[in-house]
Amino acid sequence: MREQLEEIRRRAMAELADDAGEAQIDAVRVRVLGRSGELTEIMRGMREVPGAERPAIGQLINQIKREVEARIETLSEKLKAAALTKSLNEKRLDVTLPGMRIARGHIHPITDILEKMLQIFESMGFEVAMTQDIEDDFHNFAALNFPPHHPARDMQDTFYLEGGMLLRTHTSNGQIRVMEKRRPPLAVVCPGRCYRRDDLTVRSSPMFTQIEGFMVDKRGRITMAHLKGVLTEFARAFFGTTAVRFRASYFPFTEPSAELDMHCLLCDGAGCPVCKHSGWTEVLGCGMIHPNVMRAVEYDPGEYQGFAFGMGVERTGLLKLGVDDMRLFFENDLRFLSQFPALSAGVR
Ligand code: DAH
Repeated sequence: MREQLEEIRRRAMAELADDAGEAQIDAVRVRVLGRSGELTEIMRGMREVPGAERPAIGQLINQIKREVEARIETLSEKLKAAALTKSLNEKRLDVTLPGMRIARGHIHPITDILEKMLQIFESMGFEVAMTQDIEDDFHNFAALNFPPHHPARDMQDTFYLEGGMLLRTHTSNGQIRVMEKRRPPLAVVCPGRCYRRDDLTVRSSPMFTQIEGFMVDKRGRITMAHLKGVLTEFARAFFGTTAVRFRASYFPFTEPSAELDMHCLLCDGAGCPVCKHSGWTEVLGCGMIHPNVMRAVEYDPGEYQGFAFGMGVERTGLLKLGVDDMRLFFENDLRFLSQFPALSAGVR
């Protein structure tokens, strides 16, 4: 029996060599230690062993069992460690490699400038109202006191659509649309696209953006002084300058009318080619709302009074961003668009 046990031990240890694989180790475990394995079988046959030898044989069985178990344990650990090393090597991660850059978009500079302008007017208590691009003659011209044969009504200047509609030539239609639906007090800005039969050039485009603004209340409560205050504050907040002047002008829908000029940002008023050596650049048109406009929306001009203004967003953008060609805003070349850090906080 002793020889039999020694043979089991010898064979098991030989099979549990350093290069034994998982399957081999398992096979030895089952054959030697398993429930019907070699050692278990011998334990069952112990009854036949003479009483005096039993303790020694029993000890030997336990010893072989522990030896084989320990050897299996050692080999299994080794295999596990090797598997870990292998998987670490295969899935190696170089944490010093540069990360993947996720391209981050931003709103178009014109949208951004528009947002910034609206924020400034909202901070002064104006509300924002969107009005329509496709308009009729009444809201784009007649109600704004354009005489019947005014040149702006010419086919040369305005895109006419079938059925007598047209593409609005300015956002001043917003004044009419809002006022005819509501009663003063009103302080509203109307942003939007406008269309004119112009060529796309350095300074003009057939499609452009404007902001129209107006404030109306009981006669005597909104004066030209408020107009000057609001627009001077706008220039300060948007351009960072209070070097502005109001120059008398003419618009059919305002009386008196004015244009707001600002010290040229490039030469700070000294005179340069961009401001044609005048030191000033024109920023917007404005004035006190004409009594005929009040009548067109059925406000009594004896009872109500107010001011209005309108400005081009692209043109103002050119000044603000120091860009010298309007077309760049419409070409959607990312090399151009990505040059401008956001002025507004983002998207409304
Ligand atoms: N509607 C004018 C334009 O398209 C801009 C403008 C000028 C609007 C004076 C106004 C204003 O409200 O008072 O050029």
